[in-house]
Amino acid sequence: MLLPTNSKSFSLLYNIILGIETSCDETGVAIYDRQYAKTHLSCRASTLQSQNDTHAQYGGVVPELASRDHVKYLQQLTQQCLDKANLRFTDIDGFAYTQGPGLAGALLTGASFTRALAYGLKKPCLGIHHMEGHLLSPMISHPDIKPPFLGLLISGGHTLLVLVKKLGQYHVLGQSIDDAIGEAFDKSAKLLGLSYPGGYPLSQLAQQGDAKAYSFSHPMTAKAGKALSPQNRFNFSFSGLKTEVRNTYQKEIIQAKNPAQEHIIKVNIAASFERVVAETLSIKIQSALDYLGNSSDSVLITRLLVAGGVAANHTIRQSLQQLSIKNRLQLFIPEPRLCTDNGEMIAYVGWLRFNHLSLKHSSLSHSHVILPRWNLHDLRPLH
Ligand code: KG4
Ligand code: ZN
Repeated sequence: MLLPTNSKSFSLLYNIILGIETSCDETGVAIYDRQYAKTHLSCRASTLQSQNDTHAQYGGVVPELASRDHVKYLQQLTQQCLDKANLRFTDIDGFAYTQGPGLAGALLTGASFTRALAYGLKKPCLGIHHMEGHLLSPMISHPDIKPPFLGLLISGGHTLLVLVKKLGQYHVLGQSIDDAIGEAFDKSAKLLGLSYPGGYPLSQLAQQGDAKAYSFSHPMTAKAGKALSPQNRFNFSFSGLKTEVRNTYQKEIIQAKNPAQEHIIKVNIAASFERVVAETLSIKIQSALDYLGNSSDSVLITRLLVAGGVAANHTIRQSLQQLSIKNRLQLFIPEPRLCTDNGEMIAYVGWLRFNHLSLKHSSLSHSHVILPRWNLHDLRPLH
């Protein structure tokens, strides 16, 4: 049985889970309380400290500074989260933290903090896969979602198209062979003079532009004009698009006669870039749906779950909405706040794993406290 709501064997032993996320540049803490979630379709409480200001001046995440910020804020964010939930440490049934993948130093801060808390309180502690957290985050507000479904994870570090036949069992259909989608947003935004992380400011700029002004190619699709090798059918590539943006910008900007013309070039490039990225995602998903529907072990996909920071993008959300209508898919994307890194997704997947994974198989006894390079394929299925 996949979901606890229908499970007779569901035990309330692990009803309240405190989850901690520190894989990159957001310190997130949340409490998932099963009883509360049943009626509110959300976590009971959460706190978040973004490090955007710390890293903005360097144009990207500085790992050492990220670790220091996590250490600085973990304790107070955890206490604030408990206060918001009106709970004490002793009310927590189990602790969960992001075990990987991510920055080693950043992961270590969350792992040591959470494991020390759990040890001191004599409570169990589980390491959670960051990408599983993102992938299942739409289920926090839609707990009835059941596999099979297609998952699209689009973030600063990852671009993954995943077939989920069973919770905890992930078949990666495609991924980026170079820059992650968020990286392409951030690098293109930097080129246009925007602050880091550039995804949101670029999307704001794009709103003023003409999305058809520039015809950038759709990377790694038949539309790009090159024959597509079978292994790249569902893979993504964004570094070429970023270069196309740079070349176009450099060529156009020298012809601009005044700041107003410069502005028009920038907004048009931003809008065209965003359109091409959104269309490319749709082309890839469509091709995966066609493949899955027609392959020998065909799977009927009726749901699409989208998560990760880039899923906050309005144009991408609209484009995926159209794709879903065309294919009669139910589309689930978390509210923008829950698309980026957060503690909620870790607390929720922690709760799922505590209650649906035989604990003798769980990472309760895991010798590795962190796994900076952890493959999604290596997870144990939930039952
Ligand atoms: O999921 P996330 O917080 O971190 C990772 O796990 O990587 O995603 C961060 C990424 C950044 O690249 C950021 O620029 C991008 O998400 N992002 C956006 C938007 N909001 C955040 N990209 C496009 N449009 C947005 N509205
Ligand atoms: Zn993330």
